[in-house]
Amino acid sequence: MDSKIKTLNEKLAQSYLGGGEKRIEKQHANKKLTARERVLYLLDEGSFEEIGALVTHRTKDFGMDKQQYYGDGVVTGYGTVSGRLVYVFAQDFTVFGGSLSETHAEKICKVMDLAVKVGAPIIGLNDSGGARIQEGVRSLGGYADIFYRNVQASGVIPQLSAIMGPCAGGAVYSPAMTDFTLMVQDTSYMFVTGPNVVKTVTNENVTSEELGGASAHATKSGVAHITATNDVECLEDIKKLLSYLPQNNQEKTKDIPYELADEMREELSQIIPDNANKPYDMHAVISGIIDTDSFYEIHKNHAENIIVGFARLGGKSIGIVANQPMFLAGVLDVNSAKKAARFVRFCDAFNIPLLVLEDVPGFLPGTDQEWNGIIVHGAKLLYAFSEATVPRVTVITRKAYGGAYDVMNSKHIGADMNYAWPSAEIAVMGAKGAAEIIFKKDINAADDKEAKWKEKEAEYADLFANPYSAAQRGFIDEVILPETTRRKLIKAFSMLEDKQVEKPKRKHGNIPL
Ligand code: COA
Repeated sequence: MDSKIKTLNEKLAQSYLGGGEKRIEKQHANKKLTARERVLYLLDEGSFEEIGALVTHRTKDFGMDKQQYYGDGVVTGYGTVSGRLVYVFAQDFTVFGGSLSETHAEKICKVMDLAVKVGAPIIGLNDSGGARIQEGVRSLGGYADIFYRNVQASGVIPQLSAIMGPCAGGAVYSPAMTDFTLMVQDTSYMFVTGPNVVKTVTNENVTSEELGGASAHATKSGVAHITATNDVECLEDIKKLLSYLPQNNQEKTKDIPYELADEMREELSQIIPDNANKPYDMHAVISGIIDTDSFYEIHKNHAENIIVGFARLGGKSIGIVANQPMFLAGVLDVNSAKKAARFVRFCDAFNIPLLVLEDVPGFLPGTDQEWNGIIVHGAKLLYAFSEATVPRVTVITRKAYGGAYDVMNSKHIGADMNYAWPSAEIAVMGAKGAAEIIFKKDINAADDKEAKWKEKEAEYADLFANPYSAAQRGFIDEVILPETTRRKLIKAFSMLEDKQVEKPKRKHGNIPL
């Protein structure tokens, strides 16, 4: 027996060494942890149980039968994060550059299948040179097996992808179909075609970092939801993100016990400037409402005219969507509508109540927006809110103009509670523009056009630049003092806790894509 145990231990020791000491040193020199180090850092100490440590590839071509590494370039298994079960796979760049073979894909599929059957999040740590070139179509089939599972698992269990090295070609489509993509600055990149192909086809000179580094995807494309400065920070981000999520779509989020106290927040009354055209930072409103330091922002540097993220309110996990007057006056445009719609759908799929903080002057005008399909993308957000059945509460802090008023979780599209601050202006447009259109004749006929315009602007503002017309009709449930907002919201979400909505039977809706 001793010799048999020795054999097992030797095989496992080889597996734990991945591609060997030299390649591990190279990985460290490149400021990256190894796959195994990442898994062990991510999971609670002692909780990792590996699956498939002795798997090897089946390829004989190109002398591959003489190059065997136990584990075949991916560490897979399960463990816990803060005591809650998760499944994980981590590609091992020290083994054939973490490239995906048929068996490597099978290992990933195995943990994905278990995650769905049991109902726990799956976390993918990607660091791979792509399809195992020596395997050809078998490797491509492996990718497709994963993609298919990503789609089947979508909306059933949370799927998180961290990009911690290369992720190119078809490999990008698994992370793209998961719920959140995290990237590490300087050491990770994602693109469908790399700089060499780009140069050949479009004659553009671009580096990997410029084309698909963390900052490109966190700012320009929006492919990355979160960026971290190094591996450890990225793994900490995953843990934090998980803390707001339920294990699966049948569960509610895990609340932190909380007892209602005074909850008055005087500082909320000092945020809105007297001049309605002056910006203010919506983050100040968010932090004035939520539990201290509990905001976890998603897509922080992309489409900054809208803010989305998770927070805790009276111990409960909520999703926040908020217009940001600091950027483009908080207008809705193509990118902000897509960003918010995706977030709303995630929250709805995973039973996370939604809080909307609204200060929106309308949609961004221009050929760029129209030709890039603001009609369809704006419709996405409208659709996402309209189909959401989680508890939904809106607070209008200032402007709620035009079609954007409807879109931003209005009563008419199914919001449960709609509040407005006394500073709210719920109207078709701003008073100045409105006066110019509907009182055009009066203004033109006046001797002092400017004075007439001002007079008519004041008349319109008096009637509509307030929350009362909407409150009279019940479109606003209550006009509230800013300092009472936190208390009102804690109570409203608690009241809505057991909300149930029956939907008519259908295969699936047809969201404007
Ligand atoms: N299939 C098989 N082996 C691969 C591989 C792949 N797709 N990608 C990398 N490797 C191997 C390399 O042969 C090398 O093996 P070695 O350690 O035995 O020398 C090892 O992984 C590390 O690769 P290397 O090129 O030395 O690392 P790098 O950091 O300099 O570059 C990449 C990383 C990803 C940019 C580069 O390896 C690459 O371009 N890979 C191919 C990408 C690709 O076209 N994939 C297929 C399409 S999806």
